[in-house]
Amino acid sequence: MNAIKDKLALITGGASGIGRLVALGLAERGARVVAWDIDEGALERISHEAAKLKLPIAAMRCDVSDRAEVYRQAAKVRELFGRVDILVNNAGIVSGRKLLDTPDEKIERTMAVNVLAQFWTLKAFLPAMIEKGEGHVVTIASAAGLVGVTGLADYSASKFASVGLDEALRMELRKQRSRVRTTIVCPFFIDTGLFAGVKTRFPLLLPILKPEAVALKIVGAIARGKKRVVTPPFVYSVYLLRLLPVRALDAVADFFGISSSMDDFKGRTHE
Ligand SMILES: NC(=O)c1ccc[n+]([C@@H]2O[C@H](COP(=O)([O-])OP(=O)(O)OC[C@H]3O[C@@H](n4cnc5c(N)ncnc54)[C@H](OP(=O)(O)O)[C@@H]3O)[C@@H](O)[C@H]2O)c1
Repeated sequence: MNAIKDKLALITGGASGIGRLVALGLAERGARVVAWDIDEGALERISHEAAKLKLPIAAMRCDVSDRAEVYRQAAKVRELFGRVDILVNNAGIVSGRKLLDTPDEKIERTMAVNVLAQFWTLKAFLPAMIEKGEGHVVTIASAAGLVGVTGLADYSASKFASVGLDEALRMELRKQRSRVRTTIVCPFFIDTGLFAGVKTRFPLLLPILKPEAVALKIVGAIARGKKRVVTPPFVYSVYLLRLLPVRALDAVADFFGISSSMDDFKGRTHE
């Protein structure tokens, strides 16, 4: 059975960056796609792009941090397009400041967009997947959800939470003997502009990733029902390094430049 063709996929933050590329990739493989985003300019651009490429991508404004809006727009999606088969929880933001320099509102917004929103979309779309005994939930977390990063306290916390959400959900579905699939995605920095200015000390081991390559891995994971995407492969070493005493783990993180990667962070600048 083809896991993508003729399925309905909904991607949050689907008009820019990784979300946009996953939307295009799934549509090229025969899915109908709904892209939710908060950026109206980006929504307009992806609508035009899809029309030009003759791809079935519907762009809708939805601020996923707004629970009522998520439920309202989810009802609209069901009414217009039917049951969502593939949910890609991708929308994410970053404050990029040291913990005590991060305004309270930014911390709250990061948690609302990067984590809480994932609960609202799951509440909206998972029941129908479970009922049908079919579906796929993709959670876009980050390598910063596997290791805490200096200058990313709220972001790292939100991504650790997403990793936990995926794992708990996977176990829950397994216990229910549900055939709904899950995928957790933990990439290192990607060249989308969200993390403009970040640097890597060992680009051969930890390259700044190309968005197209990451999107391809995500689409491939959906096609094959792969449960975990960690990229580049060197990030897998975190699982082993966690066996070290904390002091040694911290020294390794320093050595690999993780503690200084955010020093020149500029982040997304909207023209
Ligand atoms: N880029 C990286 O280095 C990197 C690395 C690891 C993981 N990730 C994760 O990958 C995901 C996608 O990142 P990306 O680099 O593709 O980001 P991106 O280029 O900024 O795209 C994310 C899209 O989500 C939108 N968005 C933000 N808040 C939203 C909200 N409340 N409701 C709906 N849409 C919203 C953004 O709009 P605005 O532009 O208006 O905010 C943007 O259009 C995120 O979860 C991110 O944390 C990224």
